[in-house]
Amino acid sequence: MEAIGGGRRGTRIVGLFLVLVMVIMAAVKTASGHGVAGDEGGDHDHERFLKLWADGGGDARGEGYLNWDDDDDEEGGHDEEAADRVMSWAASCRPPTGRNVVNVDSFGAAGDGSVDDTEAFLDAWKKACSLNDAVFLVPGGRRYKVGAIKFMGPCKNRMVIQIQGTIVAPEEPSEWDPTSPRLWLLFSGLAGARIQGGGVIDGSGSKWWANSCKIDHSMQCKGAPTAMTIDSCRGVRVRNLRLQNAQQMHLTVSRSRDVRLAGVRVEAPEDSPNTDGIHVADSSAVTIQGCRIGTGDDCISISNGSFAVRMKDIECGPGHGISIGSLGQGGSYAAVEGVALDGARISRAQNGVRIKTWQGGAGYVRNVRFANVLVDDVDHPIVIDQFYCDARSPCHNQTSNVRVSNVMFRNITGTARQPEAIRLACSDAVPCSDIVLSDINLLREDGAEVQTICNCAKGFDNGRVRPAADCLRTSPCGGMSPADEAMDKEAAPPVRHTEL
Ligand SMILES: *[C@@H]1O[C@H](CO)[C@@H](O)[C@H](O)[C@H]1NC(C)=O
Ligand SMILES: *[C@@H]1O[C@H](CO)[C@@H](O)[C@H](O)[C@H]1NC(C)=O
Ligand SMILES: *[C@@H]1O[C@H](CO)[C@@H](O)[C@H](O)[C@H]1NC(C)=O
Repeated sequence: MEAIGGGRRGTRIVGLFLVLVMVIMAAVKTASGHGVAGDEGGDHDHERFLKLWADGGGDARGEGYLNWDDDDDEEGGHDEEAADRVMSWAASCRPPTGRNVVNVDSFGAAGDGSVDDTEAFLDAWKKACSLNDAVFLVPGGRRYKVGAIKFMGPCKNRMVIQIQGTIVAPEEPSEWDPTSPRLWLLFSGLAGARIQGGGVIDGSGSKWWANSCKIDHSMQCKGAPTAMTIDSCRGVRVRNLRLQNAQQMHLTVSRSRDVRLAGVRVEAPEDSPNTDGIHVADSSAVTIQGCRIGTGDDCISISNGSFAVRMKDIECGPGHGISIGSLGQGGSYAAVEGVALDGARISRAQNGVRIKTWQGGAGYVRNVRFANVLVDDVDHPIVIDQFYCDARSPCHNQTSNVRVSNVMFRNITGTARQPEAIRLACSDAVPCSDIVLSDINLLREDGAEVQTICNCAKGFDNGRVRPAADCLRTSPCGGMSPADEAMDKEAAPPVRHTEL
């Protein structure tokens, strides 16, 4: 992806990011104390661990960033009102006071779905970006065809990007802008902008999917554009938007801080390849709330360099579930810390909640809590998979991996499609530690019992846990049966992944 422009602002963002990381690390250190995060000795302080995770993520000294009580924000405040005025203006045709509305139509956009409006959008953006209190307006009731666009900041203050109509991508991959192979709509270097309006962002992805090496095995594996990318931003709010049929991923938040996504809908066919709904990478303090996502890949994926990611009230399915990872591909170092999911309904999906890492990687995933999840017709509702291998050739076991610790699954209930409802497959070389299952109730649709399988997963069960998870306490290693492996192969066909 493109690097952010602006020297001084860039330095400031990096500075703020570093401070935040340091604060989080300090908080985690305080909260961990002794014996909680430790892998050795078997003297886990269960009580302390449970307390740490019991009430919204920690005590006052602890991991407050997993709490939901600090939902301050300007929501309901000044900016919000201004945004609402823009909405009502759209309905009444009267411009909102104190707002500089920049309508793409005034810059020559045709909005007929066939003429290329890229230039008009860029001209309008340049204007909007130069004004305080600007509204970059994409009017409703029309279809704007635009190619790859970089909406670059920094802009003046209080920018609103009001998308009411439909923005649609050109269909033909062969005609795609070669200078932007992985990006369609990029928002970069913005501070405090709002992206909203109830409109639609449509990637016209079907020809890209047909060219994917996952669909057509004769094709070379290469990435396709992400429909919308928020990169190197801070304080950005996205709400009330619909993304559909992306060429590859739908909405990526990368190298950003303090981003909130609410009321985002994502829709793509179940068999569309790598069409993750929301992807978070290299970002901290990200909140995803009240989103409904159904695609051909992960509803939400959280990858390397992400800290303090909160998800609440998520509807997911079809798709591959809500995932942390994949991490550690090609021997890389990865770090993810402080992820909380509170409230989700996951239906007709391959997985419910999952952590996936590759053999040979390094780094860690820790302090994760998946809570209050209803699953309905999900193959494997609870998964830790340290043998993740989305490659054409089989992956071999190695002596390193991304370390997984302090992961709690709490109040997860519903129906599983596969007998192995809970798969805690940790590597022999780097076992998982402090894995907690609490108040779990999973069954087959027909009421048949399901199972928990463990490999080198250390931790404990708490409260009522069905299927039983005694194996967490005995943590057998090296024990996946050949039958499990066969099942693995079935679940993950040997194709090469094109993902980040
Ligand atoms: C993962 O993120 C860390 C910083 O958090 C960085 O040092 C490392 O290079 C990243 N790994 C990859 C594969 O991008
Ligand atoms: C368990 O999760 C479900 C689904 O989100 C929720 O409705 C229920 O209130 C939760 N139960 C408890 C005790 O938190
Ligand atoms: C990798 O390790 C797992 C767990 O011990 C084992 O079940 C599996 O057979 C191993 N795979 C290979 C390719 O050696």
